[in-house]
Amino acid sequence: MDRPLKTFFIRTYGCQMNELDTEIMAGQLIKKGLSPIQDEDSADLLIFNTCSIRDLAERKVMGKLGLIGRGSKKNVVIGLTGCMAMAKKNNLFQKFPHLDFVIGTNNITDLGHVIDEVLSTRRQVMKTDELFEENLDYLATRRESKVKAHVSIIRGCDKFCTYCVVPYTRGSEVSRPPESILEECRSLVDQGYKEVTLLGQNVNSYGKDQPEWNCRFHDLLARLDAIQGLERIRFLTSHPVDITIELMQALRDLPKLCQFVHFPLQAGSSRILKKMHRIYTAEEYFEKVDQLRSIVPNVSLGTDIIVGFPTETDEDFEATYEAMKKIRFSLAFIFAYSARKGTPAQRWKDDVPEPVKEARLQRLLELQDQISSDEQHQMLGKTYEVLVERFNKDGRMLKGRTRCWKKVILEGPSQLIGTLQQVHIHSFSHQTLLGKVVQ
Ligand code: SAH
Ligand code: SF4
Ligand code: F3S
Repeated sequence: MDRPLKTFFIRTYGCQMNELDTEIMAGQLIKKGLSPIQDEDSADLLIFNTCSIRDLAERKVMGKLGLIGRGSKKNVVIGLTGCMAMAKKNNLFQKFPHLDFVIGTNNITDLGHVIDEVLSTRRQVMKTDELFEENLDYLATRRESKVKAHVSIIRGCDKFCTYCVVPYTRGSEVSRPPESILEECRSLVDQGYKEVTLLGQNVNSYGKDQPEWNCRFHDLLARLDAIQGLERIRFLTSHPVDITIELMQALRDLPKLCQFVHFPLQAGSSRILKKMHRIYTAEEYFEKVDQLRSIVPNVSLGTDIIVGFPTETDEDFEATYEAMKKIRFSLAFIFAYSARKGTPAQRWKDDVPEPVKEARLQRLLELQDQISSDEQHQMLGKTYEVLVERFNKDGRMLKGRTRCWKKVILEGPSQLIGTLQQVHIHSFSHQTLLGKVVQ
C-alpha cells in the first residue's frame, strides 16, 4: 500500500458483542480520519471481524480470505480481528500470507497503532493479549442505528462450558466501571437514542470481579433506569445459574426494563447438562422459569439449544424436545453441536452422526415454529407498545419491536422513527407481526 488509507470496510461475523466491537473499531478509524464505505471491493482497509463459535463460522471467513488471496488485491490493507484471531493466532499468517494484521478481542484499542506499524514496516503485525484492559474509547463508537444501541458492560466468560470456545477467545470476565456505562448511556440519550441493550457473555456476573464497586447487575439496572429520556433497557445473555431473585424483582419493578430474558437452556437432559458443565439440572432450570414467571407474569423467554452433543441419545434428545414444549420459549436459536479445538468436549468422540443431528435440529425448529405462530395468533387484535427503529427492508413500511422483542412491521411516515407508538396487531406472516398505529 503506497498511499494513505482513506476508506475502510468491516465485515462482521458472530454475535452482538462482535457487532458492537465492529462499531467501536469503526469509531476509532473515523477518529483517525478514515471514512466507512459500503463497497467492500474498493476499500483501502478491509477488516474481517470473525467468530469461532462453530466450524461453519470459521469456514466462511477462511473461504473469503482464500478468495481474496487468489485475487489481485495488492493495494489494500487486510486485517483479521475477533475470536478467530485468538483461536488461530500465528497460523493465520502462515495460511494467508496476504493478511497484514491480526488483532485479538482484547486489543481493539490498538487498532490505530497496528495499522501504522503495518504501513511503516510493511510486515505482518499480530496483537493478541490474553487480558482485557478497560481502555476503550466507547464514546467514539460509530453505530448503525440512531435509535437503539448495544452497550458493553462485561467482557469475557468464566463459565467454561465444555463445548465452548468463548472463554479462550475472549478471556476471563472483566466488568466495566458503572460510571463509564452510565456516562455512555447518558450520552446516547443526548444523541436521541431510546433503547440500550447491555451486552456480556453473562451479564448476570456483572460486578462479581469487582466487589469493592458494590454494584451488582441489578444495582446497575436500577441506576440506568433512573436516566431521564431513556425509554427501554434490555440485556443479553444470562446464564441460568446467575439469574437472581433481585434480577427478577428488577424486571418486575423497573419501568424501563423490557420483560424479555434470554437464558439458554442448551439441553433438557440433566446428564447432558452435566457433561456440558452448565452447572444446573433440567429441574433447577424449570424452577427458575416458574419463579421468573410467578414474579414477572408477562415475561418472554429466549433460549439457545445444542443438539447432538457427544453421547446424546434419543432419550436425551426427547428430554430437550419435551422441555421446549413445556416451557414454550418465545425465541429459540437451535444449533447442531460442532467440536471446537481446545475445548474439553473436543476430546470426546463426536459420536452423533450428522444426519441424526440434522433430523433433531429440524424437529426442534418445527416445534419452535409452531410455538411462535401460536404466540403470534394470541397477539392478534391486541395493542402493544412498539419502538419504531427504521424503515423495513422494502423501504416503504417501518420496522420496530415490542417490549417482548417481537418484530412488528407497520405503515407510517418516517417521522415515527425513534418514537414509541401504540400499535394494533392485525395480521402476521412468518416471524413478523403486521400492525397499525393507534391514534
Ligand atoms: N454466553 C452465551 C452464549 C454464547 S455462544 C450463553 O452462554 O448463554 C451462543 C450459543 O452458541 C450458545 O448458547 C450455544 O448454544 C451455541 N454454541 C456454543 N458453542 C457451540 C458449539 N461448539 N457447537 C454448537 N453450538 C455452540
Ligand atoms: Fe460459552 Fe458457556 Fe460462557 Fe456461554 S456461558 S460463553 S456457552 S462458556
Ligand atoms: Fe463468535 Fe466470539 Fe461471539 S466466537 S459468537 S464472535 S464471542
